[in-house]
Amino acid sequence: MDKEKIIVIDGRELRFSDGETILEVAKRNHIDIPTLCHLKGATPTGACRVCVVEVEGARNLMASCTVPAAPNMVVRTETPEVIRSRRMTIELMLTSGNHEDCLVCPASGDCRLQELAFRYKAKGATFQDTGVKYPMETVNPFILRDFSKCVLCGRCVQACNDVQVNEAIDFGYRGAATKIVAKGDLPLKDSDCVFCGECVQVCPVGALVPKNAFKIPRISETTPVKTTCSYCGVGCQMNLHVKNNRIWHVTGCEESAPNHGSLCVKGRFGFDFVASDRRLTRPLIKENGEFREASWDEALDLTARRLKEISGEHADAAGVLTSARITNEENYIAQKFARAVLKTNNVDHCARL
Ligand code: FES
Repeated sequence: MDKEKIIVIDGRELRFSDGETILEVAKRNHIDIPTLCHLKGATPTGACRVCVVEVEGARNLMASCTVPAAPNMVVRTETPEVIRSRRMTIELMLTSGNHEDCLVCPASGDCRLQELAFRYKAKGATFQDTGVKYPMETVNPFILRDFSKCVLCGRCVQACNDVQVNEAIDFGYRGAATKIVAKGDLPLKDSDCVFCGECVQVCPVGALVPKNAFKIPRISETTPVKTTCSYCGVGCQMNLHVKNNRIWHVTGCEESAPNHGSLCVKGRFGFDFVASDRRLTRPLIKENGEFREASWDEALDLTARRLKEISGEHADAAGVLTSARITNEENYIAQKFARAVLKTNNVDHCARL
């Protein structure tokens, strides 16, 4: 092995590339270093200190997410000192808000802080509370902000600024009064926020949750079903979180192109229509100016017969209008049907112009 590019982690000699952090080398080699603030694809901030490791020769523990791997570096990821530091960090976070509310928190079961507290046997709020309290922000259309649960990891800020590039939120105030603020410390609804919900998806605790989070099943109680967003032709990959045959949450699939976990406001929050009682569930046939319900067989037979009659009588009299709200594959089938069955090139698409 090229000795210039070797780092030793937990006794294993591992090759690294220029610019790779200790955390990245460890992850690539299936060595588990816990993280909290780290957000894949964004610039590491080293805000939470959960990922600290011992580096031989260094005076202090180092945040593995920010420190680049270096030749001959010797790293230990789970020593008693590392464990003690992580436990203290977690206890400080637990002190910073209402984290004893796990029983009634919408994020319970899907909370990174809860997982870490269990893993490191953190004892709950062991330090003195600063007393700074901000009221919950409930006025936004899609997002509930519970500042008492915020651990100031900054993942929401990175998701907003680095990933979505909306630049709607940032850290505000100083010291114990620090909070995540939108422009002028206004509610999100009065700021530059576009409610893409990227911040909700990356929040590792219950500080940012969907507006109706207290009325619907927790995400941890649902089953993810991977699908393609039907709102436009981009083809974003998403997980529908389903319980009792109903969609309760939508998240982006981080491991899939083209969106790599990101969604827009429609994809993430606009799924009520699926269970709407105003949805058509049976075909309607118009007779004498009035719609009447019909069976699928009757509706399809009628459609097939009329299309055959019309395109048989007048070449190119029929046309097919497709939609950006269906997949590329469905659009392909629609144009194929037009050209091969109806024998027309009259095919158009609502997103063409
Ligand atoms: Fe490294 Fe937070 S994950 S400092």
